[in-house]
Amino acid sequence: MVVGACPLGADLAAVEALVAAGAGAVVLPSLFEEQLVHEQLGAHHFLDAYVDANPEARSFLPDSEVFSLGAEGTLAQLQRLKATVDVPVIASVNGVTPGGWTSLAGELAAAGADAVELNLYEVVTDSTVTSAEVEARQLEVVTAVVETVPVPVTVKVSASYTSLPGFAAALARAGARGIACFNRFYQPDIDLDTLGLDRRLVLSTPAELPPRLHALALLWGRVPLDLACTGGVHTGADAAKAVLCGATVVQTVSALLAADRPAAALGRLVSELEAWLDEHGYRSVGEARGATAFDNVADPGGWERLNYARMLQGWTPRPSRG
Ligand SMILES: Cc1cc2nc3c(=O)[nH]c(=O)nc-3n(C[C@H](O)[C@H](O)[C@H](O)COP(=O)(O)O)c2cc1C
Repeated sequence: MVVGACPLGADLAAVEALVAAGAGAVVLPSLFEEQLVHEQLGAHHFLDAYVDANPEARSFLPDSEVFSLGAEGTLAQLQRLKATVDVPVIASVNGVTPGGWTSLAGELAAAGADAVELNLYEVVTDSTVTSAEVEARQLEVVTAVVETVPVPVTVKVSASYTSLPGFAAALARAGARGIACFNRFYQPDIDLDTLGLDRRLVLSTPAELPPRLHALALLWGRVPLDLACTGGVHTGADAAKAVLCGATVVQTVSALLAADRPAAALGRLVSELEAWLDEHGYRSVGEARGATAFDNVADPGGWERLNYARMLQGWTPRPSRG
């Protein structure tokens, strides 16, 4: 069980408590490409000149207060955590265009990160851009980060690839060692009173787990990557499902952030998972891993298109009540 990237990673006392409760690793909050570009642009007068010359830059250079820790803060937090806890600490970088910012991943590794999670969160809005172009660019970023860091790189991807198995295989060829399924997309809702966008962050529910299970089950044993489940894990039973579908790592965030005591919530999740494994005769997580994956399940059609037709045709309408 791993604490996924979120503000808890920026809090030393919280991380200590989470590790004591059984966290197997901790992912730090991300450093964002926009933030790193911002920092690398350096002096304000240069930044102002840049923004004046490129009006669009105003929309992508964020206010510095959007980010909790800058690169310096993240490096310092990484060093503090490495000196305090004895589980792997994973740095996270978040960006989608090749550029100098990726070199900071090297500094994170030098500061002691045991691995780097590269988050490819991206919202494509340009109708002239093809998915092939997007994937090629993302693979360039993965290659740049892999070339920069001496530690394993895992890639956190979105659920919306036309061929996730194909992209996962390409990630492995680019040198990634793992894939985390999936990013959550924080689309705004519509505020019906103001007709504006409602940008409140809503935490996940277990309803978000099945698409992750599906991806894990399809990828397990078929791509040379470790699989991480991230999204919708709120109980030990959810974690057991992720392991059965092939997860090496199960991340959780919302379940911890929603709890009054995140460490107690994590401890409960770990003991529920252990109890489930015990009750079902598994002596280790490794024995259970992949048991319901595509290549192991008795009815692989259940993971395929065939399932779609069966599910739709098997729906029994409720008797009409007039
Ligand atoms: C408040 C908050 C902050 C987050 N910050 C990051 C981040 O910095 N980088 C990142 O890759 N994911 C971030 N995430 C996403 C989580 O790591 C995770 O992928 C997502 O919440 C799904 O997992 P969950 O269903 O267990 O919450 C954040 C999520 C929340 C709720």
